[in-house]
Amino acid sequence: MPLLDARKPQDVRAAAQRLAAGELLAFPTETVYGLGARADDDAAVRRIFDAKGRPAEHPLIVHLAAPEEAARFAADWPAAAQALARAFWPGPLTLIVPRRPGSAAAAAGGQPTIGLRVPAHPVAQALLQQALALGVSGVAAPSANRFGRVSATRAAHVVQEFGAELVVLDGGDCPGGIESAIVDCSGAQPALLRPGLLERRQIEAVLGRPLRERDEASPRASGTLAAHYAPSAKLRLMSAGQLRDALALLGAQSAGLGLAVYSRSALPRSSGVIYRRMPDDAVAAAHELFDALRDFDARGARILWVEQPPDAAAWEGVADRLQRAAAA
Ligand code: TXA
Ligand code: MG
Repeated sequence: MPLLDARKPQDVRAAAQRLAAGELLAFPTETVYGLGARADDDAAVRRIFDAKGRPAEHPLIVHLAAPEEAARFAADWPAAAQALARAFWPGPLTLIVPRRPGSAAAAAGGQPTIGLRVPAHPVAQALLQQALALGVSGVAAPSANRFGRVSATRAAHVVQEFGAELVVLDGGDCPGGIESAIVDCSGAQPALLRPGLLERRQIEAVLGRPLRERDEASPRASGTLAAHYAPSAKLRLMSAGQLRDALALLGAQSAGLGLAVYSRSALPRSSGVIYRRMPDDAVAAAHELFDALRDFDARGARILWVEQPPDAAAWEGVADRLQRAAAA
């Protein structure tokens, strides 16, 4: 029972029924797996916070079957939200808008705003459509990982995080690999709270003006805490040159340290060091990022040296996740 198979229509139906009954369900999206509960059921939503160990004032994203459902949760639909939803929904973009009073209070973590997203993943779409037909107008779902830890991009990762009692709708590998971009549309000028695979310039092109950076006044977003997305290994970001020097300095003494290296550049090999090549392409790097971090942990890495990603627009989301992992 804990694993439902998204290729089987009866399993997707069972998953939607669980949500309708106020139970927890992990499900795939085009970014990462989400840990979902119906957004209009505060008791069900509180179980998400309990399972994750997440502070209750950290708001969750509400997932919708279609843009039209936003009106149930949004008190206002600013022009920026309208433009971005038109351009990028369904897709890996979360919009923060003023919350309709009385709606999804627990999911919003008490904020006067609410985060909304229409995911594009076919399994998430089928699930949300069927749940909607059963009266569930939104599914609150943070990433399906324990608070502060690495997000899950495969059903097996979700099981690693929460154990086998949690029911997971297995839809395979998530294509994107890092979480949605978050744009706060609740203020005078839209702000990028979290970069994703959708590039800043694509968002700005639709808005016709630059995004504001997040500031102290921006609502709390756990994905934006300085320390987050942490593997168990102590992660450090280094340039290719620093990596070469450090490995040369260690030489044979690197054996037994539990040292792992994740780099785009080819480096001299030392025995006893776990090496993994990071893809040269940002989309491919994002796709495997969290799986790679989990794999280093599984292989016993205690120290993880990661080559700093290129300072290029396409890499902003990956660089952001790695910086936060390094700060943990
Ligand atoms: O791709 C994703 O966004 C995935 C999938 C499952 O949709 N979800 C995800 O959820 O990453 P989570 O909870 O791990 O990250 C959601 C982020 C958090 O940083 C949260 O604080 C922020 O969105 N957020 C949600 N509602 C907000 C609000 N009203 N104001 C400010 N930030 C908000
Ligand atoms: Mg998260």
